[in-house]
Amino acid sequence: MEAKKRIFSGIQPSGELTLGSYMGAIKNWVALQDEYDCLYCIVDMHAITVRQVPADLRRRSVAQLAQYIACGLDPEKNIMFIQSHVPQHAELSWVLGCYTQFGELSRMTQFKDKAKKHADNITAGLFTYPVLMASDILLYQSDLVPVGDDQRQHVELCRDIATRFNNWFPDTFTIPEAFVPKMGARVMSLGQPENKMSKSEPDGCVFLMDKPEDIMRKFKRAVTDCETAVRYDPENKPGISNLLTIYCAATGKTMDEAEADFEGKGYGIFKPAVGEAVVELLRPIQAEATRLMADKAYLESVYTQGAQRAQALANRTLRKVYKKVGFVPAK
Ligand code: TYM
Repeated sequence: MEAKKRIFSGIQPSGELTLGSYMGAIKNWVALQDEYDCLYCIVDMHAITVRQVPADLRRRSVAQLAQYIACGLDPEKNIMFIQSHVPQHAELSWVLGCYTQFGELSRMTQFKDKAKKHADNITAGLFTYPVLMASDILLYQSDLVPVGDDQRQHVELCRDIATRFNNWFPDTFTIPEAFVPKMGARVMSLGQPENKMSKSEPDGCVFLMDKPEDIMRKFKRAVTDCETAVRYDPENKPGISNLLTIYCAATGKTMDEAEADFEGKGYGIFKPAVGEAVVELLRPIQAEATRLMADKAYLESVYTQGAQRAQALANRTLRKVYKKVGFVPAK
């Protein structure tokens, strides 16, 4: 039997999970879990590239695991773990950092954006973060990396680093590919539809665990335009197009079907209908996440086993890399 291809992906516990990370990433993780051999990570080491409150980071890391499972990821099928429990990520990151150019990292748009936002705290970690992300992916010889559109550039850099490393040291890494969904790859802010929906800008952001009334309020307030037609036209109607995309991703309908649902109906009917679709999408997820959060022992067993399984895989790649670069094998 042919071995299954490998997937790695992760989300930072730097805030609560958002509808954007669900539609851009987790939804596809769930869809791919049967076909692939998957590792889904809570990347806490990435989260400290900007300041975090330690107690919140700890709580959110465990809550994120509960939410992963509640979204439909099966801990029996997938390796689910917390990044800082597998030290090989940091170890490989050091080596790969020595094979990455300063110029390449300087070109990362997310670094430039975050450096602007956190101008008083531009750390070396924020700058080298894409190297840690490349290590996450390459450590497991991943074939596919399901992410939203904003992570494409980081996956491209990962491919460049891996290709270059393989030119020096043949057959070290599998060259991964990004998997970006057709629908939901870039969910925009409800308040500022020209910007990405982001946990760092809670205004216009829907969180996975938001109460139904808060979700409805956010959708009713969503910024639209001064026309009346519910039509997909991202350039001229960014707000409406974003809401249509969310509606499709939440209901599984095509864009044509979604437009047909609201033909001749105004925004006053359309906006709450999108809110309701999201409330219904999230209702079972929220109930299951709340149930799981009450079972800390179970969550602990999932992340402990996950880390053990991940370490075994990670060690193979790390030993290979250490040998290739010329380190003396430890006895
Ligand atoms: P992060 O934590 O910012 O986002 C997690 C995932 O959610 C996607 N996403 C979105 N998709 C659509 N619309 C949005 N508004 C939206 N907001 C977020 C992101 O594209 C991402 O897939 N560096 C990564 C985490 C990471 C990682 C990795 C990912 C670390 N190591 C290895 C893949 C493989 C990040 O900061 O994602």
